[in-house]
Amino acid sequence: MRITMIGTGYVGLVSGACFSDFGHEVICVDKDASKIEALERNVMPIFEPGLDALVDTNVRAGRLSFTTDLVQGVKGADAVFIAVGTPSRRGDGHADLSYVFAAVREVAEALDGPAVIITKSTVPVGTGDEVERIVAEVAPNKGITVASNPEFLREGAAIDDFKRPDRVVCGTDDEGARAVLSGIYRPLSLNQSAPVMFTGRRTAELIKYAANAFLATKITFINEIADLCEVVGADVQEVSRGIGLDNRIGRKFLHAGPGYGGSCFPKDTLALLKTADDHESPLRIVAATIAANDTRKRAMGRKVIKAVGGDVRGKTIGVLGLTFKPNTDDMRDSPAIAVIQTLQDAGARIRAFDPEGHEQAKKVLTDVDFMAGAYDVADGADALVLVTEWDAFRALNLKRIAGMLKSPILVDLRNIYPPQDVIDAGLQYTGVGKPAFL
Ligand code: UDX
Repeated sequence: MRITMIGTGYVGLVSGACFSDFGHEVICVDKDASKIEALERNVMPIFEPGLDALVDTNVRAGRLSFTTDLVQGVKGADAVFIAVGTPSRRGDGHADLSYVFAAVREVAEALDGPAVIITKSTVPVGTGDEVERIVAEVAPNKGITVASNPEFLREGAAIDDFKRPDRVVCGTDDEGARAVLSGIYRPLSLNQSAPVMFTGRRTAELIKYAANAFLATKITFINEIADLCEVVGADVQEVSRGIGLDNRIGRKFLHAGPGYGGSCFPKDTLALLKTADDHESPLRIVAATIAANDTRKRAMGRKVIKAVGGDVRGKTIGVLGLTFKPNTDDMRDSPAIAVIQTLQDAGARIRAFDPEGHEQAKKVLTDVDFMAGAYDVADGADALVLVTEWDAFRALNLKRIAGMLKSPILVDLRNIYPPQDVIDAGLQYTGVGKPAFL
């Protein structure tokens, strides 16, 4: 298959590289010349484990290339994937589809024969109909069809998620488009590693939002249970295990923590809510999830203040982990931002270390001292807070840390350390959803 990917952001670049690794011929198009030029030198615009090697292999094999020239890029394509950004629109929280529509218009004008335009960007229900309308206006007789193929990859595990997905969802009622999509995903269905599911286009669009909203709700549910655990003296990790072993519930996405962040859950839950409101079909549970998660992030800052004794004025708080989750440099909606700002508002000085996030963190945080490693953060700080569960933080020498801190206080917002280990090392322990420890 000849595939063109419009947009070399997270989804576009990972999908393009993986499709080429399946053996398809892929051209990735982006307007940003510096990005394309960097990609041609095998410099990735994002941090994603394994991506540079995957890109390099497939560029060398002649299956993957990059260009800023959309007209050339779509020539002879069987499928053109739209993977441009759909940020939250300022003011109303709706997904901003202007990049999607502009890309579709250009693609439809440039295509020189029949092809399927497939939206991979997360787009609200009904967007495919609008795309079809644009195609009918711009290029009525070229045999272009429109399909939806939402992406479910997680940052940090994106390549694995793409190549070994739980399922692939394709939305189209057109037989030709179905044949093209079946051909594209044949490598997955051949070894029966993933069910490739065909649905109507609107259904596919809604599946993506419903999946993200459900996962965000699952996290928020366990976070609220964690709060209750603290009050009644129960342990949320055991509650998670106890309910998660029920197959109907499942164990994943039941880790209590400082709230979800990232490029998808906050934006997509908000956009889904807007769609529901527009159609006067309220999604009260999603609304409650958004509200609870928003307040949770600053509440975690207040939890730290309480652990330090109620007053952080003039104190130095060390923060481990800044990105919204490990194995990414992404700071979008990271709980660390709200935690740090809450502490700063209360008069604390902040020093921090993140294995990959410093560059992005500097764009959203002010007055933070960025340190070279975890022990540099601890050395002379008044307390240590673990916000993101990078592997590098999982086996710290807690005794050494206890000796370095001015007051031996550890707040573990990801519950990665057994409380007894922390206490045995001479540190005062605070976790999430844990009964009180002496
Ligand atoms: C998510 C979806 O998982 C993916 O399918 C979709 O395509 C894009 O959005 P991503 O945002 O990369 O992926 O990260 P994910 O691993 O899902 O984590 C999202 C947030 O939830 C993180 O802030 C993470 O720390 C938090 N989380 C996740 C928890 O707090 N507890 C959990 O149990 C799981």
